[in-house]
Amino acid sequence: MSGPQAMTKALAAGAAALLMTFAAASAARVGAQGTTPDPSDLAEGRRLYEQKANCQACHGWSGDGHKTDNQMPDGANLRETKLPRAGLVMTIKCGRLNSQMPAFDKFAYSDGRCYGKTQADLKSYPTRMPDPPATLQQREIDLIVDFLMARVVGKGPMDHAKCVEFWGEDTEVCKDLK
Ligand code: HEC
Repeated sequence: MSGPQAMTKALAAGAAALLMTFAAASAARVGAQGTTPDPSDLAEGRRLYEQKANCQACHGWSGDGHKTDNQMPDGANLRETKLPRAGLVMTIKCGRLNSQMPAFDKFAYSDGRCYGKTQADLKSYPTRMPDPPATLQQREIDLIVDFLMARVVGKGPMDHAKCVEFWGEDTEVCKDLK
């Protein structure tokens, strides 16, 4: 093969490899786009929701607002929320001003990234956001939101079939559901 021809071939191969890299990168982002994410990512999102972030304390394990901790404020029914993905991400990062929904971004009120407000501004609200059970990285927030979109938001009341899908097995909590 002569010089220019080999060159073209090498370039084409390079372009194909590049395209494949792009395809793989966008496949990995599918979860964040709202289509079905990987089952292990969903399970991780659920674990973060139930454990590290302890959203269930105020919103219930299934997100229906039946909180698991009586001492906690009443969280919204996330199964019926009308918020789109971006609104869910924003609410988790920044909490909700003048309510008991905490902000999970460590820097939420240190540099104006949330509603343009700082710690000092928060003092003017009658209801103060509580501290979050833990702060979350952006990646963790994305995992929780992917899980919420796939298993909670707009999914109607919990039933036995949804419960088994939710936990990935027929666990104790599912036994009493029809
Ligand atoms: C300390 C209790 C508490 C914890 C913990 C908590 N929330 Fe909330 N959350 C609330 C309350 C209270 C509201 C309602 C705020 C209001 O009055 O608008 C709320 C509202 C929300 C909303 C807005 C719903 C809507 O339709 O407007 C979302 C989304 C949400 N929470 C998600 C979460 C997620 C996800 C977690 C865990 C990462 C979490 N919350 C942890 C108390 C809590």
